[in-house]
Amino acid sequence: MPAGAGSLSDSYTQFARAATGRSPLYVELANGVAQDSELLARIAVLPNEKQQPNLLLGAMKYLFGPAQDWPHFRGQAQDNWPAIEAVMRVRRTQTNEPARCATLLPLLAQLPQPLALLEVGAAAGLCLQPDKYAYDYGGRRVAPSVITTNAPVFHCLADAGTPIPHRNVQVAWRAGLDINPLDVGNDEDVRWLKALVWPGEGNREALLGQALAIARTDPPRIVRGDLRRDLPALAAEAPKNATLVIMHSAVLNYVSDPAERIAFADTVRATGARWVSNEGPDVFFWDNQRAWPAGSFFILALDGKPVARTESHGASIEWLA
Ligand SMILES: C[S@@+](CC[C@H](N)C(=O)[O-])C[C@H]1O[C@@H](n2cnc3c(N)ncnc32)[C@H](O)[C@@H]1O
Repeated sequence: MPAGAGSLSDSYTQFARAATGRSPLYVELANGVAQDSELLARIAVLPNEKQQPNLLLGAMKYLFGPAQDWPHFRGQAQDNWPAIEAVMRVRRTQTNEPARCATLLPLLAQLPQPLALLEVGAAAGLCLQPDKYAYDYGGRRVAPSVITTNAPVFHCLADAGTPIPHRNVQVAWRAGLDINPLDVGNDEDVRWLKALVWPGEGNREALLGQALAIARTDPPRIVRGDLRRDLPALAAEAPKNATLVIMHSAVLNYVSDPAERIAFADTVRATGARWVSNEGPDVFFWDNQRAWPAGSFFILALDGKPVARTESHGASIEWLA
């Protein structure tokens, strides 16, 4: 096996483990890649951040649609490697999961309305439209506060302690910041976002399509910028007669230096905004640190204090307060 391919193989094996129970096809494909020294050697020449399983699988789905099985996938990879590599070099894993709004909503609805929503790491901005979606928390439904055509209904398992709101939020202003914004008006960006959804995850891709259709009728403004530098200028644009909420979900893992994450937290606090974060427990230094059990979940926090444990794609919420 070529140098570096051993740990690369491990990362694909780990990915297969993480995909177990979510996407049987991706378990098979990732395990296949992990044992294929020829394919691993091709991936290993890419820059580190371009070797991720999610990027390879997304690029293949973007180009060819979902593969039937490992032999089919391997054949496509062998026959089309230059095209696959080109997509992997240009694209990034920017999964935009509007279903996460179901876990943000109980917290956002507790804040004084209306809200000025500023999302850091917004991708295409689909989490900036919580007011345009419907929710079902085990039969307790929350309707959109803005009338839209064909609003997706996000189902979320909520424990008894979760304060399910009686009504949706009011959003007076919304804007996103992203180092590489995706444009909902661009068909290739839309195709890429759909390609990032794993096959076998029920109606997730269909719901994403509904959220994208809503965004295409009134695209959220996403400013190109780096959360390490450009947040104060955008925050200063928010209207003063709404509660400014700076929020982020599945973003801080992209900022690998812990000192930069702490500096970001200081920047958010300095704006005086309310701060809603929904991130993996390993990427942030929470005010009240504790040992979290293993699993694919995020910690939802308000102003740095954990309030809920959320399934990372918005499927469930467990209130901690
Ligand atoms: C996994 S996506 C999450 C998108 C959205 N927050 C959600 O939950 O669906 C992470 C996003 O963070 C953006 N990002 C990563 N590093 C960033 C940085 N330093 N500044 C701004 N955005 C960044 C990426 O471009 C990507 O669009």
